[in-house]
Amino acid sequence: MKISIIGAGYVGLVTGACLAELGHHVTCMDSDRSKMLLLKANTMPIYEPGLGELVRRNRKSRRLGFTSRLDEAVEISEIIFIAVGTPSRENGAANLTYVENVARQIAEAMTGYRLIVEKSTVPVATGEWIERTIRLHVKKGIEFDVASNPEFLREGSAVQDFLHPDRIVLGVESGRARDILTRLYKPLKAPLVVTDMKSAELIKHASNSFLATKVSFINAVANLCDQVGADVHEVSRGMGLDRRIGPDFLEAGIGFGGSCFPKDLAAFVKISEDAGVDFTLLKSVSQINKNQRQIFLKRIEENLWNVSGKTIGVLGLAFKPNTDDLREAPSLEVIAWLRKEGARIRAYDPQAMPKARQVLKGITFVRDAYQAAQGADALVIVTGWDEFRKLDLKKIKEMMKYPLVLDGRNIYSPAHMKELGFRYVGIGRPQKPDRRG
Ligand code: UDX
Ligand code: UDX
Repeated sequence: MKISIIGAGYVGLVTGACLAELGHHVTCMDSDRSKMLLLKANTMPIYEPGLGELVRRNRKSRRLGFTSRLDEAVEISEIIFIAVGTPSRENGAANLTYVENVARQIAEAMTGYRLIVEKSTVPVATGEWIERTIRLHVKKGIEFDVASNPEFLREGSAVQDFLHPDRIVLGVESGRARDILTRLYKPLKAPLVVTDMKSAELIKHASNSFLATKVSFINAVANLCDQVGADVHEVSRGMGLDRRIGPDFLEAGIGFGGSCFPKDLAAFVKISEDAGVDFTLLKSVSQINKNQRQIFLKRIEENLWNVSGKTIGVLGLAFKPNTDDLREAPSLEVIAWLRKEGARIRAYDPQAMPKARQVLKGITFVRDAYQAAQGADALVIVTGWDEFRKLDLKKIKEMMKYPLVLDGRNIYSPAHMKELGFRYVGIGRPQKPDRRG
């Protein structure tokens, strides 16, 4: 099948490359010409495991192409995915200007039937607006359908998530749209949830809000653990084995970031408010997440006494492991605060350094975790990269000025860290006096 994707960001590019891998002919279009030039030269604009290989392979077999011309993309494909950004407005609502512009341009370029699919995360009823916009601008007599097909791709494992989905949600309003999308995804052999457009749009926001709720829930429990002397790892293990709860998204830490959870929560709160529904629960989820970062900063201060003039090694800048994405990353807030307090910062991330250099000024970027620990009064872990779990901790201790580790991702065992002679502060895992006597 012939497909075009408008917007070659994290979502659009992964979707395009994976659909090509399934055997379809895909054209990715982006208004950012420099991005298209990079991709045409087989250079990935983002770090996403497995993506580069997929792009190269499918370009070679001529199933994947790139253009910055929207009319060309609309001309050659029957199915057009919209995957442009939907940033937050100040009041939390999603800014749908890009979506509207793209819908209008698609309509103007259409010369025959097209199925327009919203892939970007959008508020409920956006599909209807896209439909209206296209109807207003399309040439008379040209048929089209609009459908919603939300993505559930986690950065860092987006390719795997696409190729092995738990489910595929198809929000359709016609048999023709349902048949086309069913054929498109047939090779994946995944469970399909075929529903109306509004329900599909709600499934996306409700899913991300629910996952964010799980994270904030366990973070609130972690804070309680710190107060009463319990271990949140044990609590989440004990909870997660209950199949009704499930073990995922119960890792306590410095809180969630990224381009989706904070934005989607704010948008879902606004959607509910506009619909006259008071979704207080979600406001608390956001608030707990904001507090979580403050609690971590307070911990740093409590353990260092004065931050001013001290050297802090920061391990991890990306909002989560296996990505170079810094959007809403807790590291930005942690580093801004440390700088304000007058600390000297030595920061390292396995992938996010090039992007970090553009946005973080006045700090020293170092080439590995050991360099970050060199002469440090404290080591602060902000992203749970696997690489950090495998460090030679004895060497780290020798290199530090004072062996204090503040772990915002709970990647080490408090008991082991104590054995090694560290002062170790995790989240919801207080160091206990040794009961073995
Ligand atoms: C975005 C949304 O933020 C998310 O809510 C949605 O689920 C999918 O799309 P992401 O892919 O991470 O997520 O965004 P981003 O990496 O910013 O990519 C958007 C791309 O669209 C950019 O490359 C941008 O250049 C492009 N774009 C934007 C266009 O091609 N045309 C436009 O008019 C606007
Ligand atoms: C999310 C959705 O999971 C995905 O389906 C799609 O809709 C895009 O948005 P993403 O933001 O890429 O994916 O990453 P995700 O793995 O969901 O993590 C989001 C944030 O929550 C990260 O900052 C992560 O560190 C944090 N998190 C996650 C925790 O703090 N604890 C957990 O147990 C899980």
